[in-house]
Amino acid sequence: MKVTDLSIPEAVKELIIRSGITELYPPQEEAIQAGALEGRNLVLASPTASGKTLVAEFCALKHVLEKNGKVVYLTPLRALANEKFDEFGKYTAITKKDGKRFRAGISTGDFDSTDPWLERYDVIITTNEKADSLLRHRAKWMDDISLVVADEVHLLNDAERGPTLEVVLARLMQVNPDIQILALSATISNVDELAEWLKAEHVTTEWRPVSLKEGVLLHEEIQYKDGDARKIEKKTRDPTINLALNTVKTGGQALIFSSTRKNAVTMAKKVADEIITVLSKPARRALEHEAERILSTGERTRLGESLAELVRCGTAFHHAGLAGGHRRIIEDSFRAGKIKILTATPTLAFGVNLPARTVVLQDYRRYEAGYGYYPISVLEYKQMAGRAGRPKYDKTGEAILIAKTSDEADYLVQSYVLAKPERIWSRLAVERIMRAHVLATIASDFAHTENGIYEFFGRTFYACQYDIDAIKSLVAKILKYLYDEEMIEVFGEDINATKFGKRVSELYIDPVSAVIIRDGLRSNREYMTEVSLLHMIAHTPDMGPVLRPYTNEFDQIALYMEEHRQEFLFVPPAEWEDNVGYEEFLGEVKTAMTLNAWIEEMSEDWLMDRFRVQPGDLYRTLESAKWLLHATHELAILFGNKQILPLTFEVEQRVEKGVKKEILPLVKLEGVGRVRGRILFNSGYKTIEEIKNAKIEELSNLPLIGPKLAKKIKEQVGGFIKKDTWERLEKQDEWKQRALTEY
Ligand SMILES: Nc1ncnc2c1ncn2[C@@H]1O[C@H](COP(=O)(O)OP(=O)(O)OP(=O)(O)O)[C@@H](O)[C@H]1O
Ligand SMILES: [Mg+2]
Repeated sequence: MKVTDLSIPEAVKELIIRSGITELYPPQEEAIQAGALEGRNLVLASPTASGKTLVAEFCALKHVLEKNGKVVYLTPLRALANEKFDEFGKYTAITKKDGKRFRAGISTGDFDSTDPWLERYDVIITTNEKADSLLRHRAKWMDDISLVVADEVHLLNDAERGPTLEVVLARLMQVNPDIQILALSATISNVDELAEWLKAEHVTTEWRPVSLKEGVLLHEEIQYKDGDARKIEKKTRDPTINLALNTVKTGGQALIFSSTRKNAVTMAKKVADEIITVLSKPARRALEHEAERILSTGERTRLGESLAELVRCGTAFHHAGLAGGHRRIIEDSFRAGKIKILTATPTLAFGVNLPARTVVLQDYRRYEAGYGYYPISVLEYKQMAGRAGRPKYDKTGEAILIAKTSDEADYLVQSYVLAKPERIWSRLAVERIMRAHVLATIASDFAHTENGIYEFFGRTFYACQYDIDAIKSLVAKILKYLYDEEMIEVFGEDINATKFGKRVSELYIDPVSAVIIRDGLRSNREYMTEVSLLHMIAHTPDMGPVLRPYTNEFDQIALYMEEHRQEFLFVPPAEWEDNVGYEEFLGEVKTAMTLNAWIEEMSEDWLMDRFRVQPGDLYRTLESAKWLLHATHELAILFGNKQILPLTFEVEQRVEKGVKKEILPLVKLEGVGRVRGRILFNSGYKTIEEIKNAKIEELSNLPLIGPKLAKKIKEQVGGFIKKDTWERLEKQDEWKQRALTEY
């Protein structure tokens, strides 16, 4: 089938053809035949790289241009949301019936808002969590959605993220009974069950546009699934490195999956030492440029420096411990072919298109605290393997597992290479997860009786797989908890959310966190300080994993706890009676200490050294802290805790910017962060008024503030700049820049 044969608007066809696609892939053709363009619900289960996104693009454009519809595209990861957003970018040249341009928007952050501006977009790309929060706010425009695309829908099976996706889909079906659902999935063994839940047709294929040779490397030889074998030159003692080098030498790029961040970093370092010899001069120059970009992004840290050092050697690592800016640079320069070998944790396992001719799976086991090592699922193996051989970049691809013994090689062939992906299961029926969803069901008017609640949960994937009676007792227990904590009220059959319950649901926090915050705000007002608030939020389940205290830090943390005893709102468990609880508490205190150091303006490097925390964990902690402090402030307003409001407001702002109170007014200026704010303050510009009165020459001579920024600052504070002064400064700066680049 050709693109020209499709029943979609001509303008769309033209753009697709211009992007180089003229023929449909067989899975795409099957999806069309199954009625995707006639509004039928569809589960498309097809191998990696088989072009599932394009089917979603056809449907989305059809909805927008022909049916005046609106589309939500759900993705599990921010990185994937960014990639999809870029893909929809090509359609912005199209004009709709109403004369306006087609617009795609992306929204992945801030959970406590309805984002009314999203209404202007035709296709909205978002994470499952963001969609869930928008539904809780009952954002008006969500009622207009006519098509929902659920990408990577097999992640329903993921214990953490699966339930959110499940609830979002069930709610959308409830709100808009006519909505079309397009679920994109890896091949799984119970597609029929998934389709039954979504009242959908299903298409399953085994087709892949680029052949993917899967195999196992034992010592120097790869055994492929199809019976082929191939020897790899033994350059080093590590087969993973030999294989990656072999790929680069033959003009390809390699992606190595490691099971932990530490392994990813170690592997990248080992690879870098070897690969440097095969890089050409121009390649090295291009890499030097990338390394500089890394160093000039965000605050200078040692992790950033070691990443830059690796990039100079055409190598890099990618894991959740990296800062977002660095991750994007790494992704881009791997895509551009500059970085030759990339090591990664499963952060890159799903959906992304990368030029990896070879994917190496260094380890098929994963470690989980308290659980030990376990082998990854076939589904996950297939996803990682499928990053190799993407049609945009390569003509073939190979995915290789590493075995140490021939027994292990046999095991890997049987358990992964030849194995069929598992069934997927609903992970909804867990108290911690259900609690927030039960409250949201009531608070956002999806149900107002116990039966109504069961009816809603009866629409979930869980109810398709299990007997709904099985969660009745769980729901009853949760209702009792919500009632006892005054988040719901009951009048006869009717259940309604209280103001508290409604706000908790909108704030997108766990009801248990809300109870901790409410009780914390009520107690101990006299000694309430920033440490009290920071520890209180670290004590809530929504902080996620707290920063781990190392054994040799115990004494220090205990001492800090002693010094700040009066400020803490919660009492630590006795060390000898509840050791696990005590250590968890130390972790909370450590998290509070780290946050406190952050708002005392300690540098990122200092924080990482002192608390042995990686940038990614630091940013995650800061993100959670901002969100929980916002919730704290909002709940304080709700409960009329007036005297605490100045403190909650101030701490929220300080965590957002990472500064002491005295420079808060300065960092509100665009272009002024914690470092420049401090420079201004210490140079005597302590208030906006003082900046307004300052001479622009003086400002532009300060470290890290050139004429351009000085001008921008002056403009923001409403200061006056003489034309000839500005022209002189601009000239000077030009000379300086030129001198620097020539040097
Ligand atoms: N008909 C086609 N002709 C040529 N290239 C195509 C066609 N359809 C899709 N592609 C290209 O194939 C690549 C892979 O597509 P896509 O990312 O949609 O795969 P996928 O099925 O979603 O894989 P995954 O399961 O890994 O997410 C993209 O670069 C896309 O541009
Ligand atoms: Mg995809």
